[in-house]
Amino acid sequence: MRKNIVAGNWKMNNDLSQTEVLITELLKQEQTSNAEVMIAPTSVNLFQAFNSTKNSNIEVVAQNMHFADNGAYTGEISASMLKSVGVKTVILGHSERRAYFNETDELLAKKVDAALKNDMRVIFCFGEELADRKAGNEEKIVGDQIKNALFHLEASAFKNIVLAYEPVWAIGTGETASPEQAQDMHQFIRETLNSKYGEQISQDMTILYGGSVKPANAKEIFSKPDVDGGLIGGAALKAEDFYAIINAF
Ligand code: 13P
Repeated sequence: MRKNIVAGNWKMNNDLSQTEVLITELLKQEQTSNAEVMIAPTSVNLFQAFNSTKNSNIEVVAQNMHFADNGAYTGEISASMLKSVGVKTVILGHSERRAYFNETDELLAKKVDAALKNDMRVIFCFGEELADRKAGNEEKIVGDQIKNALFHLEASAFKNIVLAYEPVWAIGTGETASPEQAQDMHQFIRETLNSKYGEQISQDMTILYGGSVKPANAKEIFSKPDVDGGLIGGAALKAEDFYAIINAF
């Protein structure tokens, strides 16, 4: 049985005191669903966030990491550094990393390897741009992103991977994929996994949808059989909205 997960990607929002305020608000909310809950504050606040959520079921995860163990990579953060402050899961391949920081499938494959080698869990993101969808190329783009970054892995690695489909045209735009568009793509993603790794791994894979998920649309999106949760941007910055989404299961 695969898990339901709702993860809040805070992106480059919330300084230290805002992080503390939001976590205090999150801890007051009531969870009525059994979804796993994650928040991804900016790296400088991970340690604080980890300590503040210690006695809760909120897992603190990172938004990015470098592939090297250590060394001359000014400004970068390694898997072992993340682990040393309590972080066990990292988001990799977010479209903003791909678009603004030139992260390629090849680089992401190295980051995935580094995370798995360090026994971390990876939330691997991918998704097509609007032009790809308009041209009818969305499955080709998404299939290639998955194959290029993940298909060198052994089957056993997939127990530590969560997939997140985030169509770039739906991120921060207020425009969501329709529940049917999300379902169609998630089904395709599962079939893609199945074609290489078989039925068990594809059925056990948690596949999140991201892109303008809000309290008002979460229930319908999460009701689709191949949508196992959400990666939430803007709505994760308000405790009540985030929990309304978590409780949409
Ligand atoms: P929004 O929910 O703000 O569209 O962001 C989605 C996202 O990029 C999560 O990683």
